[in-house]
Amino acid sequence: MIGTIAALYRLLYAGVLCRLPEPTAVALGQAVLRRVPLGRLPVFRSRDPRLAVTLGGVRLPNPLILASMYDDLAVLERAMGLGFGAVTTKSITRAPRPGHPEPNLVRHDSPAGPGLVNCNGFKNPGLDAYRAALPRLPRRVPLIVAVAGESIDDYVRLVAALAPLADLLEFNISSPNTALVYEWSRKPEELRALFREVRAATPRPLILKISPDFAEENERAIIPAALDAGVTIVNYGNTRRVAEPRLSQGAGGLSGPALFQSTLANLRRTRAKFGEAVEIIATGGVDTPDKALALIRAGASACGYFTGFVTRGPGLARLILDRLSGELDQTGARDLAALRPTEAL
Ligand SMILES: Cc1cc2nc3c(=O)[nH]c(=O)nc-3n(C[C@H](O)[C@H](O)[C@H](O)COP(=O)(O)O)c2cc1C
Repeated sequence: MIGTIAALYRLLYAGVLCRLPEPTAVALGQAVLRRVPLGRLPVFRSRDPRLAVTLGGVRLPNPLILASMYDDLAVLERAMGLGFGAVTTKSITRAPRPGHPEPNLVRHDSPAGPGLVNCNGFKNPGLDAYRAALPRLPRRVPLIVAVAGESIDDYVRLVAALAPLADLLEFNISSPNTALVYEWSRKPEELRALFREVRAATPRPLILKISPDFAEENERAIIPAALDAGVTIVNYGNTRRVAEPRLSQGAGGLSGPALFQSTLANLRRTRAKFGEAVEIIATGGVDTPDKALALIRAGASACGYFTGFVTRGPGLARLILDRLSGELDQTGARDLAALRPTEAL
């Protein structure tokens, strides 16, 4: 059944969605998600208790996380019924932001498959409005609230204000679409202070979202500084900055399967270097069950995706979860952590 749904979506994507202008396709996708209660259908979810994982001590029914992109509460609520173990909000900023002008999203097909380049620029309602709205979001699975700022004070205020409404908080120092957020990765000394102050602002589990563009700095300075401060969950990672003349900013963040090989390599190096001191959410390019399984086997604590949700549709999570369950059956492993080769531990 889920295989048929996924195949039909692929036809819909290739035949219709892919031919519409990007903003129309995105608006259509969000309208369908908002209005059609797909999440009421059990077919999208797995009930396998062996897939449960913990992240920062929070139990997720499975390791799949809808990566940061949506701020619309109706869309997030629907996504919670579509098989994910947790969903993430868009990065919220202190003041409301209109985002960058259109065109701010274009398709980018690579030999690896269909992807996107965006220069969204954090279009969001801002801290006060979001804090007032979030209590209306019912929680079927844990909610990760994401934030982005331009100063240490921004992050501290955002984290302190939103923590009571979140199961986990993700602070984004990596989106390539606004120079001030992206530039954090070039300032490891200031990051040390940022991590300390954000850590002191809440007892909630904190996720640091880093950029695949700064692998050397991440592993030499940024992750060690986060661990020193007591921030022990890393989301590796965000989109990769690329030149894109079709976008209003002339550049944007590349997402989708072109990222997958570097996601896997970044995960392997990080796991090998930091061992179990860090919990790693591997994000970037997951759009098939085999890719998610490869990340789990390489030591991912959880696995995020966004572009695969658009290009492969709402059935992808269940397809991945069934693949993970099948792997547990085949290997006799008790849980997902037991799928890692021992040398990765
Ligand atoms: C249109 C769009 C908007 C995004 N907005 C955010 C954001 O607000 N904050 C953030 O941390 N990442 C954002 N991302 C990055 C995704 O969360 C994810 O890290 C990235 O797309 C790589 O994963 P994927 O290849 O599965 O899409 C956005 C990505 C896209 C395509």
